Amino acid sequence: MDDESGNVAAEIFGKPDPIFEQKTLVDVDHVPQPERIVGRDDEIRALSMQLRSAIDGESPENVVIYGETGTGKSLVAKHVSTVAESMAEGIRIGTAYIDCSDDDTETQAVSHIARKLNDEDRTGVSVPEMGLSKSVYYTRLYAILDELYDVVLIILDEADMQADDGLLMSLSRSRETGKTDCRVGVVAISNKVRWAENLNDRVKSSLQPRELNFHSYDANQLRSILEHRRDAFRDGVLEDGVIQLSAALAAQDHGDARQAIDILRNAGMLAQQQDSETVTEKHVREARREAEKDRFHDLIGGLTVQKKTTLAAVTTLHKQTGRDEFPTGDIYEAYTDLCEMIGVEPRTGRRVRDFVRNLAFLDVLDARKDNQGRAGGITIYAGLQPAHDLDIVHEIAMTDDRFANVDESTTTLSE
Ligand SMILES: Nc1ncnc2c1ncn2[C@@H]1O[C@H](COP(=O)(O)OP(=O)(O)OP(=O)(O)O)[C@@H](O)[C@H]1O
Ligand SMILES: [Mg+2]
Repeated sequence: MDDESGNVAAEIFGKPDPIFEQKTLVDVDHVPQPERIVGRDDEIRALSMQLRSAIDGESPENVVIYGETGTGKSLVAKHVSTVAESMAEGIRIGTAYIDCSDDDTETQAVSHIARKLNDEDRTGVSVPEMGLSKSVYYTRLYAILDELYDVVLIILDEADMQADDGLLMSLSRSRETGKTDCRVGVVAISNKVRWAENLNDRVKSSLQPRELNFHSYDANQLRSILEHRRDAFRDGVLEDGVIQLSAALAAQDHGDARQAIDILRNAGMLAQQQDSETVTEKHVREARREAEKDRFHDLIGGLTVQKKTTLAAVTTLHKQTGRDEFPTGDIYEAYTDLCEMIGVEPRTGRRVRDFVRNLAFLDVLDARKDNQGRAGGITIYAGLQPAHDLDIVHEIAMTDDRFANVDESTTTLSE
């Protein structure tokens, strides 16, 4: 390394960050302070009411929280349980938060809960991370509960990731079956709405859960969530309209607060990379585009070449015609052209319709049936999801090596 490159790094590290003042406020895993939680008063109130009895040493209700991703479920559950724990007077309340996507077997989950709630000096109970049988972990957990707590609140985040419902069953019945005197309240969280609705009857009857549905945020709520993180940025760096646009774009997609925060953060990063003194609406749009691209890369990258070709056929048609929707006959024609160009054996029209349906299932494409009047047949039309940026999908569909030499302008459909 020569002197100059040493200086370049030193110069960058030596200067204060021109864009961010407290970047952690917009980090993905940042847990905001209570005063930064906005737009969820009703949900916080509802959950607090269900858990209210814990403060008096009575049994709290069990609660199932469900709602789309990024709607504040984990945040609200952690917040309310923390407040409950801190407000209890003369009642020994414990809380344990576990993420079932990390601890997806019952044994792992019980072991983790026991370790969170344990204080070995006081209980004399040791809980190794691994190596004990499920029933031994339960025995130790109950010993800990009896020794240390009057009430515990156990938050099972991503609860649908548990391999089965054993954990929910055991926890909800622990007092009734005489395993412990401690009162146990379970808050199970899921972003799979059907999971909550379809919990089996045995679980429902022992849990008797109250259900809380967290709706997606609208643009105003997202805007105020972002306003409360404005101080992540230096004074005057955010141009007018930047927060509003980030909120509006996220609201258009799924009303996901995580996405809104991400867009704002990445807009700041782009401004930084481009040596811009301010974050502009252009940065926001670019950040959204990048985010969308990442998501699609993951989704589309895993498709078979046949499905990618089907998708590429749709995006190519869109490029060539400017239209957003096509009968599957046209798609098939463009698909066979592409197959020939990349040296892949084309499948039948019926198979390609299956691919289209599958892509629609994955939310990559939009498909609708149309009953054609005179002929009486059914035509399936497919196009890109209106929520997606068509150019991005096209770009990604065509990133497969096999498409490298395809000249889009030579397919038969180009006039
Ligand atoms: N009402 C809010 N006020 C402030 N920040 C929020 C609010 N809701 C969500 N956030 C922030 O948005 C991000 C996502 O929220 P959270 O993790 O609670 O969503 P979730 O509903 O649990 O999503 P998932 O289903 O994907 O787990 C977090 O960084 C959180 O801090
Ligand atoms: Mg969550």
